[in-house]
Amino acid sequence: MQWEVGGEFELRDSSLAHPEECDLLSAQSWRLPPGECRLVQNGQAALLTALRDARYGAKLMDAWLPSYLCASMVQPFRQSGLEVHYYPVDGHLAPVDGLWALAVGHGSVVLYVNYFGFPVSATAQDLAQQQHNRGAVTILDMTHSLFNIAPDEIPCSNYTVASLRKWAGLPDGGLVWKRGSRFSMPLDADSTDGGFGRARLVAGLMKGLYCDGILSQKDGYHTLFGMAEDIADGCTAAVPMSRVSCTMWGQLDTVAIVSARRANYAALASGISRLQSLHLFQETLPQGVCPLGCPIVLPRRDDLRIFLTSHGVYCPIHWQLPTDVATGFPGSQSVSATMLTLPCDQRYTRNDMERVVTLMTEWDGSRPRSRDDGVA
Ligand SMILES: Cc1ncc(COP(=O)(O)O)c(C=O)c1O
Repeated sequence: MQWEVGGEFELRDSSLAHPEECDLLSAQSWRLPPGECRLVQNGQAALLTALRDARYGAKLMDAWLPSYLCASMVQPFRQSGLEVHYYPVDGHLAPVDGLWALAVGHGSVVLYVNYFGFPVSATAQDLAQQQHNRGAVTILDMTHSLFNIAPDEIPCSNYTVASLRKWAGLPDGGLVWKRGSRFSMPLDADSTDGGFGRARLVAGLMKGLYCDGILSQKDGYHTLFGMAEDIADGCTAAVPMSRVSCTMWGQLDTVAIVSARRANYAALASGISRLQSLHLFQETLPQGVCPLGCPIVLPRRDDLRIFLTSHGVYCPIHWQLPTDVATGFPGSQSVSATMLTLPCDQRYTRNDMERVVTLMTEWDGSRPRSRDDGVA
């Protein structure tokens, strides 16, 4: 089998075999305060569910989203007919207070994101509280902090959403939680996800075959994974998360996942501390945080990414910004242009991480030194 790091999760039939199911519908099992939880096919559907519920109770006009986000997160707000505005964030991804914050009140919905699982800034907490007090609907996206010891919470948020499939080889999965009371409407049990979950299930299994040397080509599963994303972007239904994904989530060894991810992050961090031309986005991994990946910052991000790809290490960019925020948000644009996320998930060992560090050291050593190296 070819040595690789990163890319989509592969699937093998052993991950589908366990018949046990556990209670994933109680707020307690997600360590959330009392409220109702629903499991849907992905993060976009979780946002759609929250927005539909919020619009049931009140007339919503506009949505305020962070200018640092993935394009797919905007879709549900547009599909819900809301006028979308963006707010600025700084180089640490904390919201920047300003006039925009006062525009958010009754009739608005505002989204906060718990980037990379690192603690939500005090500014975000304060702004969310003030906006909530003025009648805004607040949503926290806790996709990135799902495995933290205590999931970071915005105490006044009306809804919390998460995409589950970022953490393991689940074909589908999204969580939406409503504080304190039940959702007003049932899920779209009669709709379909358009084949999203099945396309990803087959793609994951095909990648498993590729990783085990049984399938020699990547094109088939790449096409299917891409097709699934197109299906998700066009889907306006929120349907229940598949039984396969519920079963798989229920059998995840959370303790082992947290421990592997933290150890892998530490191995990368220790190697990176010796390099000249790049640095960690967050110097120390805070206690209790289970990292989604290891974000690094460097001016020549694309060069390093191409180099790593050519050696079988596939690093996502969180994120290429949607065109609406391509200008006018210097903090977001600077982070988006210089950040790369190194994979450090539970599929990998310390040896894998050391190989990644060796590659980065080789790249770092080959760089001509210049004044802007290592600076965000
Ligand atoms: C933080 C965050 N929330 C939500 C989403 C949307 O989730 P999904 O891709 O499962 O629809 C994404 C997608 O990348 C994301 O990064």
